Amino acid sequence: MKILIAGVEMAPLVKVGGLGDVLGALPHALVRRGHDVTVILPGFRSALEKVETVDRGMLDVRTGSGESIPTQLLECQVSSSRADGQTVRVLLVDQPWYFDRGAVYVDPNTGEASADDHERWFAFCASIAPACEKLDWVPDVIHANDSHVGPYCAAHVLRPRPSLRRTGLLFSIHNLAFQGWYEADAMRFGGWDPNWHQDVNDPLEYRGGTNFMKMGIALSDLISTVSERYAFEICTDSALGCGLEGLLGARRGDVRGVLNGIDVDTWNPATDPHLTANYDVDDLSGKEACRKALLEEAGLEPVSKRTLVFGWVSRLTLQKGVDLLLGAADHILNDDIRLVVLGSGVREYEVGLRALAARYPKRVRVFTGFDEALAHRIEAGSDVFLMPSRYEPCGLNQMYSMRYGTVPVVRWTGGLVDTVDSFDPWTRAGCGFHFTDLSADGLLDAVGRAAEACRHPESRSALIRNGMTQDFSWDRSATCYEALYREILARHR
Ligand code: ADP
Ligand code: GLC
Repeated sequence: MKILIAGVEMAPLVKVGGLGDVLGALPHALVRRGHDVTVILPGFRSALEKVETVDRGMLDVRTGSGESIPTQLLECQVSSSRADGQTVRVLLVDQPWYFDRGAVYVDPNTGEASADDHERWFAFCASIAPACEKLDWVPDVIHANDSHVGPYCAAHVLRPRPSLRRTGLLFSIHNLAFQGWYEADAMRFGGWDPNWHQDVNDPLEYRGGTNFMKMGIALSDLISTVSERYAFEICTDSALGCGLEGLLGARRGDVRGVLNGIDVDTWNPATDPHLTANYDVDDLSGKEACRKALLEEAGLEPVSKRTLVFGWVSRLTLQKGVDLLLGAADHILNDDIRLVVLGSGVREYEVGLRALAARYPKRVRVFTGFDEALAHRIEAGSDVFLMPSRYEPCGLNQMYSMRYGTVPVVRWTGGLVDTVDSFDPWTRAGCGFHFTDLSADGLLDAVGRAAEACRHPESRSALIRNGMTQDFSWDRSATCYEALYREILARHR
């Protein structure tokens, strides 16, 4: 099949969170299965700095009122993380006015979303069809990811271009909380008259304004999200449906859950170049060395036999439950616990975490910022990984943890339910610990159970072995996407 994957992050070119990891790995897994895959991304400055591109010419892209948006199509090949020489074609839509900026989502001057966000995503979406036409390449399926590509779905269905009339559309939701909700006026930029779209049943209307996520959900052939559990939650639970549960419920038969995989080559403790020492499930001595190195790097007091190192890597937002950690920390941080945090995001959380580190200078270290290599070292050097998310569409770090022999403590929500099997101390099956109650006490209880098991030699070995031997590779998920693409093609025929 010819598959065009459209989205706004792709590791290693541009990554803010898990969307980048997914778009970095899924295309390669599909190429490995014999498909003709191209990825299309905005030409963010950070991406253009990382690759050599070939100029494929200018595209005719216009605003709704007919003004031209200078757009150059650039092409490059991005290698897979396996040393197999495989590459995937990536198209970068170079619109310097919109994407030659220091950050992907926020305005670096204010730390807030850019005021012209709707224009940026409209401009990117308006380039997708002209890019295919320029290359004379007609995809069988366009796989659009997250709200930023919603306007493309609207145009694909409501203003079909003859060249793509046989092309099917899959829309994937990675995080329903980020919907791209704008004032009605924003629609004019994309060429939609807001006055024509004021009916609640209109795919372009949302509470008097417009909503890019709604466009994708309402108009695509199939909708997927990144775990079965989250698919169920967003269709049935109004708190997690974020206002779109009605529409999702109405399309329930077309909503599928496809669990994310992880890039098992980039995230492999046996070969990871970021680690002090490599290790595998049969020889964990390297993990001990990584733990020692992490504590040194973090400037924390060395550990005794009983000591456990807790790790945390995430965007610091409400979603990730940072408030639960801050609430439970004074009870968690006894003499035998060390905590290493890496994250950036909401200022209030950064301040709270820094205050925690100041209270426990020998036990807690907080790194703020984005540091890919340090994220690997935390996964390897920790005994326990904390992920008390309020909601979690899939979550990747719990899978990285298990692969690195680190025990995840997670909330019972979304993809954390589908990926972490609860440990049973009697049978020693399972590889992590859950809690349900959204409270500091809930987290504390799970941390207590995890600490007890990790201090018991047989339980600890079982936890590590069970986690490290799981198969989270992309091959399984790629097969599921392939089935969805085929289902869409069958509908189109
Ligand atoms: P989300 O996409 O909601 O942020 P995921 O668990 O799916 O959550 O993916 C997050 C990805 O981003 C992981 O690869 C994680 O290691 C990475 N990440 C998050 N914050 C940081 C950071 N501050 N530094 C380095 N990597 C980070
Ligand atoms: C989102 C979700 C996360 C998921 C990632 C990749 O950012 O918050 O749970 O793993 O997308 O699909």
